Amino acid sequence: MKQLPGETIRLLSSSQVITSVVSVVKELIENSLDASATGIDIKLENYGFSKIEVRDNGSGIKVDDVPVMAIKHYTSKISSSEDLERLTTYGFRGEALGSICSVSEVLVTTKTAADDFSIQYALDSNGHVTSKKPSHLGQGTTVTVLNLFKNLPVRKQFYSTNRKCKEELKKVQDLLTAYGIIKPDLRITLTHNKAVIWQKTRVSDHKMACMSVLGTAVMSSMVPFQQCCEYPEINLSGFLPKAESDSSLTSLSSSERSFIFINNRPVLQKEILKLIRQYYSQATQKDSTRLYPVFFLSITVPASAVDVNITPDKTQVLLHYKESVLLAVENVLKSLYGPLPAAVPGESNKTDVTSEDMFVHRTDQTDVAVNEMGPSGNDELHAHTSFLSLSSDVQNCQAGKNAEICLNHQTFSGDNVHSRLDKREVSKSDAFPDSSLNLLGEEEQNGRNMADIQSNSVPVDPESKKA
Ligand SMILES: Nc1ncnc2c1ncn2[C@@H]1O[C@H](COP(=O)(O)OP(=O)(O)O)[C@@H](O)[C@H]1O
Ligand SMILES: [Mg+2]
Repeated sequence: MKQLPGETIRLLSSSQVITSVVSVVKELIENSLDASATGIDIKLENYGFSKIEVRDNGSGIKVDDVPVMAIKHYTSKISSSEDLERLTTYGFRGEALGSICSVSEVLVTTKTAADDFSIQYALDSNGHVTSKKPSHLGQGTTVTVLNLFKNLPVRKQFYSTNRKCKEELKKVQDLLTAYGIIKPDLRITLTHNKAVIWQKTRVSDHKMACMSVLGTAVMSSMVPFQQCCEYPEINLSGFLPKAESDSSLTSLSSSERSFIFINNRPVLQKEILKLIRQYYSQATQKDSTRLYPVFFLSITVPASAVDVNITPDKTQVLLHYKESVLLAVENVLKSLYGPLPAAVPGESNKTDVTSEDMFVHRTDQTDVAVNEMGPSGNDELHAHTSFLSLSSDVQNCQAGKNAEICLNHQTFSGDNVHSRLDKREVSKSDAFPDSSLNLLGEEEQNGRNMADIQSNSVPVDPESKKA
């Protein structure tokens, strides 16, 4: 047995972190957001394979930190694993810049508020600074990535077709859309070969952010919601399609407009997506089970209740009390769409998500299955449904003139009530003894503009702050 040369080790581990153009863009914009940027400009040439440039107006990198900024496992964001309990930043592993250096040529131009002028640094494949020169750029950081995958010919070949390149560009745009929604006050532009192909201006809140990226027609078919649960601490907010919405407006054949965030991080959560699809498709009476509703769901839990260190791209997360989060989501869905019909034994579930889909990247998760669903995921979801289908001791409370439906007094009967609740009623569960659900009654929405609705429903999420 022989130990691999350092260069090879670096290349192998880096190419797991940096798998595509979109993964470079994701890492760089997350660095910009961690540096409190309010404006990010992304410029691609040749779909990013010739050049990716991400410029921000954030805090910049201190001169003292420059020599180690791209050395693997150097980070300004955490000092030890205990800090993960209080994580407020997207980054924490100190891997991205170093990994990008291993698979491309990198220039970093940066200036902090204390610096007189910016300096451009050239880095080698180990992340060491090889040269520097003054630059005219203002405060913030610009990372320029040239010749991506120059030393990974198979990967480069994989992305060599026009179709793959266009798919990659679409993924970049979808990624920016997600950050555009979760960060309303962020300005973003995406330029490809010198043409601006997508942009978002700064807006005041999530509703305006959704309006700007999803369009007003779609947003007028959406209903805002908010659910708070004190123990365990879970906050849900966002927008879902109204039960009577036109599904040609509020759904797509893919999940690209199904936005789920956990602590401001865009995540793939197939179980939550499946739940939302189930309720949405029964409410809109759509046969086509392939429809993915357009929605925005922001889940906030204490940092200590999430493990984001599951996959290199951090899109998979483990929640310490995932079942409670699923129940909270289901509570919102029931209130909006009514309960799901009872499962007929032996009949397959209405949506076409297989039990395998319940495990995203199964191999990644098998050895860390905290609160994992059982292999019979569908059955377990019905168990939740039964648990949440409760007796009708409903409390409708008028929240001033806005007449919000409030859910805060709950009794659990354990009955399996599958009849659809009246639209004015809400389902209840002592699974959330301290929870409150605010879902604006549909009648109240008619004739009210979205600004009114928004001001009552969706608080601005706590923003990530650099540690
Ligand atoms: N755009 C940026 N603005 C300010 N600092 C940055 C930026 N990009 C990188 N850095 C600094 O470089 C360090 C290394 O970045 P990275 O390799 O992505 O690791 P991580 O984000 O996990 O800390 C960061 O901790 C941060 O201090
Ligand atoms: Mg980073």
